[in-house]
Order: sequence, then structure tokens, then C-alpha cells
Amino acid sequence: MSDDGYDFVVVANRLPVDFSVAEDGTTSWTTSPGGLVTALEPVMQAHSGAWVGWSGSPDLDHEPFDADGVRLVPVALSATEVELYYEGFSNDTLWPLYHDVIEPPAYHRQWWDAYRKVNARFAAAAAAQAAPGAIVWVQDYQLQLVPALLRELRPDVRIGFFNHIPFPSLEIFAQLPWRAQVIRGLLGADLIGFQRASDAANFVRSVRRFTDLTTRGEVITVTDDDGGRRYVRAAAFPISIDSEHFDNLARSPAVKARALEIREELGNPEVMLLGVDRLDYTKGIRHRVKAFGELLQDGRLTVPEVTLVQVASPSRENVGAYQQLREDVELLVGRINGEYGHLGKAPIHYFHHSYPAEEMAALYLAADVMLVTALRDGMNLVAKEYVAARSDERGVLVLSEFTGAADELAGSVLINPHDIDGMKDRIVLAVEMDYREQRKRMRRLRRRVLEDDVEKWSQTFLAVLSAVPAHHLPAHQPPEHQLPEHRAATT
Ligand code: G6P
Repeated sequence: MSDDGYDFVVVANRLPVDFSVAEDGTTSWTTSPGGLVTALEPVMQAHSGAWVGWSGSPDLDHEPFDADGVRLVPVALSATEVELYYEGFSNDTLWPLYHDVIEPPAYHRQWWDAYRKVNARFAAAAAAQAAPGAIVWVQDYQLQLVPALLRELRPDVRIGFFNHIPFPSLEIFAQLPWRAQVIRGLLGADLIGFQRASDAANFVRSVRRFTDLTTRGEVITVTDDDGGRRYVRAAAFPISIDSEHFDNLARSPAVKARALEIREELGNPEVMLLGVDRLDYTKGIRHRVKAFGELLQDGRLTVPEVTLVQVASPSRENVGAYQQLREDVELLVGRINGEYGHLGKAPIHYFHHSYPAEEMAALYLAADVMLVTALRDGMNLVAKEYVAARSDERGVLVLSEFTGAADELAGSVLINPHDIDGMKDRIVLAVEMDYREQRKRMRRLRRRVLEDDVEKWSQTFLAVLSAVPAHHLPAHQPPEHQLPEHRAATT
């Protein structure tokens, strides 16, 4: 770090560590190597990097500390703020709204007030860490007001924003009572990244409708309060995974052995189907399980020849829609197991836990067919992990059209999860696919996933952001002269 701050600051709702309190009351932090952490680690190490985020526990006020050469800066949230800002506005207003209102979003003014207040706290924490002219990269829908709030405090820094989830169409976004404020918040950034070109286009359409700013292609001309002009770019930068790491993990003898063991523990079925999701209503778990149940009922799939392993990791358990989903899924799984199971031979093996990466890699390697049936998903990294794990060039990826990944992963078997009959046919096609066809498709998928990894994603985004002039421009300058060269990231 230079004396006056950090050159590269990430601002995300969560810190890249998990916080825990032991029985004796002592606290500790453990690294949680999620995708974003892995992606940003090289950048963090190369620059002097700081990460501003919430610990994941309420009422925890902790001083900044260093972990693996990165400055971690905890932002405290009270129990009420967790309820109003995180569970409420982020996950019961924005989340369902941005995922095409699969569940009805709730609009509460109190939640919005908390969202504003918490966003201002994140912005102040980032402003306090950033060196003059630093790059600050704000992540995801929980922090959409941070770019503008930060720019007010620190006009010298370059601000990037990346939206990990979809950005809805104008007609849906229009429901949000605070739509203009959210757009103004995001436009504080110099570069706004989305998963898909259509998300960026949706955003630009909403800018045109809910502000009087002019747009040209993916560039928005913003007039700041002092009359100066800035050019904000909104473009697609599809995120990925650390493909090489996953590939290596799945090639390790221990993981290969574990994959065989999993098949044995399942009673050596001829075909193993796999679903891996956070237990979220956007993931289409109900639709998937229903289709599987009907295939058993129709006799097109039979037990014990075929089995489905469904990993549903616990998520946002204080939000009503998630509690309802858990009940619905568990009822359905119980019914199907009761109806079609035999002693020691369950059609569905359902787990409400999360597993370490090694176990996930073994599950991917064991599965003949991977089912990704999301109703709406920004990207879906599980689909990419499955592909990265299959260096044996076997296995079939069944993938929903409504994921960002579907724009990229030619070679998958595409499905519409709302069309249960269509999905059933495609699942049977995947189950019956011969090895030659599997290999042909998997090679194509692997080329894409191994080439476009998460390091390339962060490098591309940061290269475009770095090319943005650090200060805003006087009113008379034409945009063409000031815009950095940028080819839209491949989608
Ligand atoms: C999605 C969001 C992330 C979020 C993650 C887990 O991937 O895009 O921002 O962190 O879900 O959800 P949680 O609410 O547990 O952070």
C-alpha cells in the first residue's frame, strides 16, 4: 500500500472470508475461495489491494486486517440492517425483480431507506481506502448506489461496476419505485459490466426512459452537477471460473477415486443425473424434479438403472420465498422417492448442504448428465464447472436457455424449463446420447470454458476501465476523442 491508500479496491456485499465465533466466544476468519476471490487474487497481489465487504454476521464491528497480502475492510451491519437491506431490499425486492419476477418482488419504503443508508456506508469505507487515482470495482445488485455516492466523495478514482445477475427488460424494471435513483447510482461508474449483451441493452433502454440523458450505442453521456460531462459505457463481460484449477482438481487421483466411490455408494446405477444449485427459486429445481418424476411415471426412465443426485445448498433462509421453496422441493422429492423407490434404491438423492470443491469435482466427474434448468440466471457457473471437470470428454450438459451460459456454451443440450414435455424429451436424449456424440459436444464446450476463464474476464474488464480518462471532461469535448478502444467482450 502507498501511504495514502490502496491502488485497487473491491467493494462487494460479502468479504472473501467467512466469519465464525467459537464456543468460548473467540472469533476467527476462514478464507472462502469463491469464484470472485480467485479471479481477483492475481490483481490484488499485483497491486496493493483492499476488499471492502460485510462479514456475513450481524452486529460485528471489526477493524481492517490483512489476509494473504490483501487488506480486508469489514463493513458492519446491524441485525435490523441485515433484515431490511440484505434480506429485504436486496433479496426480496431486487433479486426477484431482476430475475423476471419469478416470485413477486416486495416494495417497502423502509427497506429502500436501509439500502440507501448501507450503500452510503460501503461508499464511505471504499473512499477511505482508495489511493488518489485508484481503481475501485463495485460488485453486484446489493451495491448499485455505491458508484455515484463514491464519485461524490472521490471524483479522482476510476469506478467500475459489475452486475452478476440479469438486468431486466424496461417493462419489468419500470415497477421499481426507485428506478431513477438506481440508474443514477449506477451511472456514477465509468464502466458498467453485465453478463450478456442483452442485459447491457436493457440497462441502456431504461436509462433512455427514466433519465433525460443521451445514449449512443453502449455509451451514455452523463452531465454531472457541476456541468462537466462524462461518458459511461455499459457492455457485456461474461464471467467465468478458474477453469484450469477445476480441470486439475478433477484430474487428481483422489478426486477420480472418489468419483468411482460415489457411483458405488449409489449402487452403481447405469445413469447418474446431477443437479447442483443454491436452493433458490430462480434455479428451476421444482421443474427439474417434476420432469424427472414424470419420466419415472411414464416408464421412460427406471429405478435403479437411473438415479438423480440433487445438491441444494442452503441460502437466504430467513426470506419467505426461500422457506416455501424448500418445503415444496422436499415434499416433491419425498413423494417421488416414496412412489418409485425400493429399499436401498432411491430415485432421488437429495442433500441440503454445501460441499468442498473436491467433492463437487468428484460429483461432476461421476455424473453422466448435468441438469441446469434455471428459469433465469445471470451466468450459471455450475455449468462451466461441470465442463471444466470433464477432461475425459464424457458427460452431457443439459442447459436452460434462460442462463447467461447458454449464450456461450454451444454443445450443450438446450432446454426451456417451462416446457416440461420438451425438457423430458431432451433429458432422455441426453441419457441415451452415445459416447461419440458426447465427446464431440464436450470438446467444443471445453475449448470455450478453458479459453475464456475468469482471469481473462477480470483482465478484460479492468483493461477497459483503466483506459477511461481519470477525470471527467469539459462540456465541449466530443465523445469520440475521449473513448477508449473497446471491442465488446465475446458473449
Ligand atoms: C449470487 C449473487 C451474489 C451472492 C450469491 C450468494 O451469486 O450474484 O452476489 O453473493 O448469489 O448469495 P448470498 O445472499 O448468500 O450472498
